[in-house]
This record gives sequence, C-alpha cells and structure tokens, in this order.
Amino acid sequence: MAKSIDKTSKIYIAGHRGMVGSAVWRALQAKGYSNLLGKTSQELDLRDQAAVDAFYNIEKPDAVIDAAAKVGGILANNDFQYQFLMENMQIQNNLIDGAFKNGVEKFIFLGSSCIYPKFAKQPLKEAYLLTDSLEPTNEAYALAKISGIKACEFIRNQYNKDYVSLMPTNLYGYNDNFDLKSSHVLPAMIRKFHEAKQNSQSPVTLWGSGTPMRDFLFVDDLAQAVVYALENKLDENLYNVGSGKDLTIKELAKIIQKITGHKGDIIWDATKPDGTPRKLLDVSKMKAMGWQYNTALEAGIQKTYVWFLDNINNFKEVKL
Ligand SMILES: NC(=O)c1ccc[n+]([C@@H]2O[C@H](COP(=O)([O-])OP(=O)(O)OC[C@H]3O[C@@H](n4cnc5c(N)ncnc54)[C@H](OP(=O)(O)O)[C@@H]3O)[C@@H](O)[C@H]2O)c1
Repeated sequence: MAKSIDKTSKIYIAGHRGMVGSAVWRALQAKGYSNLLGKTSQELDLRDQAAVDAFYNIEKPDAVIDAAAKVGGILANNDFQYQFLMENMQIQNNLIDGAFKNGVEKFIFLGSSCIYPKFAKQPLKEAYLLTDSLEPTNEAYALAKISGIKACEFIRNQYNKDYVSLMPTNLYGYNDNFDLKSSHVLPAMIRKFHEAKQNSQSPVTLWGSGTPMRDFLFVDDLAQAVVYALENKLDENLYNVGSGKDLTIKELAKIIQKITGHKGDIIWDATKPDGTPRKLLDVSKMKAMGWQYNTALEAGIQKTYVWFLDNINNFKEVKL
C-alpha cells in the first residue's frame, strides 16, 4: 500500500538551487513540510548513475521532484545539442530509474513546452505530443524531455505508481538565469533594458522579428502546481502548466522597457532566429484538476526586476 504524503514525508527536490527547484522548496517550506532534501551538483552529480543509486539507497525519499536539468535559451540549445540531449537524459534516467528501483511511489517530472511539434495547432494540448516534427533549435532538449515523460508514463501504467509529468510554459522569477549567453528571453530582456538604461539610455538590440507569441508563468505559480501534484493524485500522466494567455515578444519588450525605465530605442535583429512562431499551452486539463495561475505578467515581472536589482552582484554563473 503506497504511503501517502504528509508534512513529515521525505521529499527530495533535485535541482533545489535552480529557479524552479528553489520556488518549490519555498512553497513546501511555507506549507510546513519539514523533511525536505536537496543536494547541489557538487555534492551529487546526477549524471553519475552509481552516485545517484548510492544516494537513493541511503536516503530512501518518499517523493521526488525532478527540477534538475541542463537548461538554456535558443543559442545554448542550438550550439550544444549533444550535451543537451545526453546530460539531460543521464540526469533524468538516473533520477527516475533510481526512484523506481528504490520503491519511490511519487515522482514529479518537469519538462517544457518545447516537447510539442513546431507547427502544432494552438493552443497546445497534451494530446499533440509526438504528432509531428520538433523545432530544430531545441530538438535535443525536447527529445530528452519526451523520453523522461514516456519513462514516467510507462512506470505509471505498468506498475501503478504515481509518476506524473508537468510541462510548464516559459517561466520567469526569482533565481532566474540572467547570463546573456544562456538565458531565456524574459530575463535576457530585463538585463538588456536595465543595462541600456544605466548606459545613458542606449538602444537595446533584441533577437528576431519580435512577432512570435509566447506565454509566461511566474515560477511561484508553477511551484503551487507542483505542490498540488504532490498532494493529489492527478488522473493522467501529463499536464501542461501555464497562464493560458500569450503575447508577442514585441509586447513583452514594451512591458519590460516600461518596468525597467528604459527610454531608448529598440532594434530588432531579424538575422537571428525567431524559434517557433507561436507557443501557447492549453491548460484546461490542469485547470479541471483544480490549479490555475494567479500572478499577472506585469506584477510578476515587477517582482522579478526587484529581485534582479537586489541580486545584481550575485548572479549565478552558467557554464555550458
Ligand atoms: N526556466 C524555464 O523557463 C523553464 C520552463 C519550462 C520548464 N522548465 C523546467 O524546469 C526544470 C528546472 O529549470 P530551471 O529553470 O529551474 O533551471 P536552473 O535554474 O538552471 O536549475 C537547474 C538545476 O539543475 C541542477 N543540475 C543541473 N545539472 C546537474 C547535475 N549534473 N547534477 C546535479 N544537479 C544538476 C542545478 O544544480 P546546482 O545549482 O546545484 O548546480 C540547478 O540548480 C527543468 O526541467 C526545465 O526544463 C524550465
């Protein structure tokens, strides 16, 4: 009989120092969970199968939340395809199989909206997985994530364990990566507009045409979805998590320009790739389960900008 999760359950959050992992940690701590477990990549390299097996053997967690991954923006994903495929598969395989072999009943796998086909109908439903080709610039990352989703699905179906995958849309918030070589579009814009403001309101150059549409979710709202999935058994194996609303990259730039107080020009560098033309997640399945987002985009960006200013001298260094 599976042990149900309570406030004393041992919950291992893989990647607990990352943007997602740290948000999940804060959310669980705030709810009174008292037995949270985290290891840095220096303490436990999740690519190392023997080390992960030994860790599971000793710690025997009741639940695992997989927020550890090699993550990056278009540039990093495109230039380091082999590393994005292989390291992500190593990390998730060791975590999923180690959990399975050690009798962990509850596993929450975090993927990303890039798992869906490049030209899939919008908004993206979970059912569109594996119905067409992926966006080439993040194919490697997406393939790794898809294999993680499938591993969890097969364990769930074959062994009746609560292994579930949540696919967040583009996330932003505290502990985001502001390193321009590897950051996602929203934190990259915050940094570029802020620095241009400091630099006598110089022009800001942004990638692509500005016409692609994206949805964004404040990471603390995703953390609430993870807590929800931890405390409840979701009916199916795969759920999208997002705001359900999208906007163009140009509109996003205007919002960030206003919040940061930049008054200069914006130059769009159309020689750089746009990525998928539109990517909006259909979040009706997760809504029907009882979760929905609650931080409006401008409010979330405002909070993130305050965090950015407070931490400007301590940003994490991202090695590729
Ligand atoms: N950011 C987004 O917009 C977004 C959107 C959708 C989905 N997601 C998903 O959410 C998850 C987490 O993303 P994030 O944005 O929180 O990433 P992040 O801030 O880069 O954090 C990733 C974490 O993974 C850990 N990690 C990486 N390689 C490791 C290794 N070899 N061994 C041990 N730990 C390792 C790092 O640990 P250390 O800090 O100890 O080195 C880091 O804390 C990913 O699965 C990602 O696909 C993110």
